[in-house]
Amino acid sequence: MHLGLIGYGNIARTLIRVLATEGAPLTRLSVLSLPDFVAATKAALAQDFEGEAQVVTDSAALIAARPRLVVECAGHAAVQAHATAVLRAGIETVIVSIGALADAALHAQVLEAARAGRTRIILPAGAVGGIDILSALRASGLSSVTYTSRKPPLAWQGTQAESLLDLAALSGEAVFFTGNARDAALQYPRNANVAATLALAGLGFEGTQVRMIADPSVTKNIHEYSVVANAANFTIRIEGNPSPDNPKTSVTTVYSVAREILNRMREVAI
Ligand SMILES: NC(=O)c1ccc[n+]([C@@H]2O[C@H](COP(=O)([O-])OP(=O)(O)OC[C@H]3O[C@@H](n4cnc5c(N)ncnc54)[C@H](O)[C@@H]3O)[C@@H](O)[C@H]2O)c1
Repeated sequence: MHLGLIGYGNIARTLIRVLATEGAPLTRLSVLSLPDFVAATKAALAQDFEGEAQVVTDSAALIAARPRLVVECAGHAAVQAHATAVLRAGIETVIVSIGALADAALHAQVLEAARAGRTRIILPAGAVGGIDILSALRASGLSSVTYTSRKPPLAWQGTQAESLLDLAALSGEAVFFTGNARDAALQYPRNANVAATLALAGLGFEGTQVRMIADPSVTKNIHEYSVVANAANFTIRIEGNPSPDNPKTSVTTVYSVAREILNRMREVAI
């Protein structure tokens, strides 16, 4: 299989290792990198991948290479810059930086591009799970989806929480955001992916409730959400380990992206 990647950082590199461990028949890689990172990307690819690999710096070159599937794992700006062109060219695209779709104009644009290209946008479960039952039960009628993001205080460094709390001095949990998924994603873009995933699978950005908590008693990134639906009620709690190479990314994300690819290569998709 020929795979296209947008970005070659923590998720992409770990993904290539996981696919190799799983015996995925990956024969070719085309990687879209920022121009300043081409040399570093080539060096990393030489370490990680034995097949044919090329590095490009714009979406036209990525499209010209005709990968079977493209995985965006580069951040919100990359979704903005490249997803529309790749989809319009008819290439199925996994968007990992799902929080980018909290921008209603960008969301509408990528949907239109997928329709024009007669292809699909794949949104992986990412750092959470249980998206299958949430998405399925939407058809039964959903009454509420409530998501709580609980992380160690220092994991909120570099976000608006810093101006609301003295993160280093917290002695107990502090709820610093309560609101809908749209506001959560727009105010906390670096932590927007899970709220956006739940919103898109379930009740939408305005209908999904979000709480964010800095909690000195935890060491993991804890995602917990409760759903009230006509067919069932359920609660899911995931205690995700941070990636060793990027503590802002839960390591579960890579495995959910690997699953999307493996499901396209194996006899059974599950
Ligand atoms: N869906 C989820 O639950 C979830 C979870 C974690 C992370 N994410 C998303 O995945 C993204 C990647 O995570 P990571 O840990 O691999 O980050 P990372 O910083 O390790 O890697 C990102 C890579 O993308 C490259 N890049 C940045 N902008 C680019 C552009 N415009 N074009 C091409 N390359 C570009 C960077 O040079 C870097 O190599 C994050 O930004 C985040 O939005 C999603």
